[in-house]
Amino acid sequence: MCGIVGYVGHRQAADVIVDGLTRLEYRGYDSAGVVISPRGEAASKLDVVKRAGKLSVLKDALVTSPLQGTLGLGHTRWATHGKPNDVNAHPHLSEDYKLGIIHNGIIENYLELKQELLAKGHVFLSETDTEVMVHLIEEHYRGDIVEAVRNALKQVTGAYALVVSHADHDVIVAARATSPMVLGLGDNENFVASDVPALLPYTREVIFLHDGDMALITQEKITLTDFDGNAIEREVSTIDWDAEAAEKAGFPHYMLKEIYEQPTVLQNTFGGRFVGNGTDVQLDLKLDPMRVNRVVITACGTAYYSGMVGEYLIERMARLPVEVEVASEFRYRQPVLDANTLCIVVSQSGETIDTLEALREAKRQGAKTLAILNVKGSSISREVDDSLYIHAGPEIGVASTKAYMAMVAAFELLAVWLGRARGTLPDSEAAEIIKALRATPHMVEDAIKERHHIAEIAEAFKGFSDYLFLGRGINFPTALEGALKLKEISYIHAEAYATGEMKHGPIALIDDQMPVVCVATASELYEKTVSNIQEVKARDGIVIALANPEDEQIKAHADYVIKVPQTHELVSPVINVVAMQLLAYETAHRLGLDVDQPRNLAKSVTVE
Ligand code: G6P
Repeated sequence: MCGIVGYVGHRQAADVIVDGLTRLEYRGYDSAGVVISPRGEAASKLDVVKRAGKLSVLKDALVTSPLQGTLGLGHTRWATHGKPNDVNAHPHLSEDYKLGIIHNGIIENYLELKQELLAKGHVFLSETDTEVMVHLIEEHYRGDIVEAVRNALKQVTGAYALVVSHADHDVIVAARATSPMVLGLGDNENFVASDVPALLPYTREVIFLHDGDMALITQEKITLTDFDGNAIEREVSTIDWDAEAAEKAGFPHYMLKEIYEQPTVLQNTFGGRFVGNGTDVQLDLKLDPMRVNRVVITACGTAYYSGMVGEYLIERMARLPVEVEVASEFRYRQPVLDANTLCIVVSQSGETIDTLEALREAKRQGAKTLAILNVKGSSISREVDDSLYIHAGPEIGVASTKAYMAMVAAFELLAVWLGRARGTLPDSEAAEIIKALRATPHMVEDAIKERHHIAEIAEAFKGFSDYLFLGRGINFPTALEGALKLKEISYIHAEAYATGEMKHGPIALIDDQMPVVCVATASELYEKTVSNIQEVKARDGIVIALANPEDEQIKAHADYVIKVPQTHELVSPVINVVAMQLLAYETAHRLGLDVDQPRNLAKSVTVE
């Protein structure tokens, strides 16, 4: 999940690379480095600068020791093998400074390869798996760098995106096995990067590499082959994202900007999908809903919680049995699937390795597959039978907000679509739900207006070390997502329970030192929720309730009430999550923490 940028052209490569890495910093940020080639001068060497710490540390180092040259590679790292320090930072170079390598992913057989290379006299400097590639390519090098890379890759197993440069060759060699990589086509200049945002200021013409593709990138052209050297062709795509869309637009943090974007995001997710007098949904899917008798949803992190909402929605509207499981468990569990099972994977990036591998397992077993995705052209989009895009635009904040809301909205659409096609959702109910969905953009706007009140609550409890989140039914996942957001960015310990389950354990923790955030919006189980809140109060607990503005009763039981607009119960998770996002944001901000780049996390996890 680290960031890669490579450039060859007429500009100073270090400038283009650092600019691109800045746009990718959210992918990984514990160390960074740049290698520049003087481009083919006899007996020349590569120049390198790399530093542990955030990209700003590398930028300062480049001011003191600037790198000149028009071909280069750069990297921001999120450590897997070896701790973040200067030596383990990428690029990795050969002892003679001829060969420079950057790599995302994991070389699975690196220990075995390392033993062989040590026996042949290679000296290793770092603790990384990547350095094995330097020595392996050196071992195969006989004057042709492309052939050396190709032969080295034949010995390697694992998931990687690799870029290589050599001081004696005017080319960047790139290879992809699972980890994403995209080429940018410029005018008398060419680019390679792990993600599109790095390329946007320079070009919108891109080629997404597929697994098993190699690219030879020179200033004039890009040549594509497979790992055996056979020529291949890939489609050139034009990216229609606005570069501005990836900027902060005046907000102090991407996360806050993305929370405020949510009303527009919902409009985009729904755009053109409601039809038939507001009683039907149209989705451009190949799937035949009548050939499904079971649904399995799998995803990671926030996407997984959206899947839990999806479980309630599909069961209620389409009357299909649904199971939800985290992708990292699913793929190793030997799940039982067949041709009538619909496996839904959910992923903002479309690159999360656990989710991708879960999809592959489902396909191996012959299940039908559908992905709920944000990023087009991503690895999952290329392997899945059907994609349902959420159209949330680029999400930069590591803690997902707008993508979560759009995923839940996509599940609403899918559940209505399945229910209508299967005849389990009558006209009147479909019309009610669609009407409620259409109203969500302005309801989310209203929910955001509670920000200042939520900020006061955040201020009151920012020094507390534990929080409990409660929710039941379709808002149990809202509680889970609330706890996850708070943990991720404020580092406060938070747990979430189904409200009715509190009395079976967590009630022992209740005291005046643990705020309890409870979803108490209108629902079939509202009265039971109020009883649970009373149980918390009876034990000196502090209750922060999410409730509808018309609810007068709740004030008697809760210490703080956060008002959230009232909607159809099945649509309420779309609205209720806003308060959770703002509570986490305002708490982390007040604690002076790095909201957009929380410690130890990465936006897209492309290693296991
Ligand atoms: C990482 C991120 C989470 C995200 C999860 C799944 O763990 O830190 O915020 O929810 O990956 O990402 P995906 O791109 O598959 O939705």
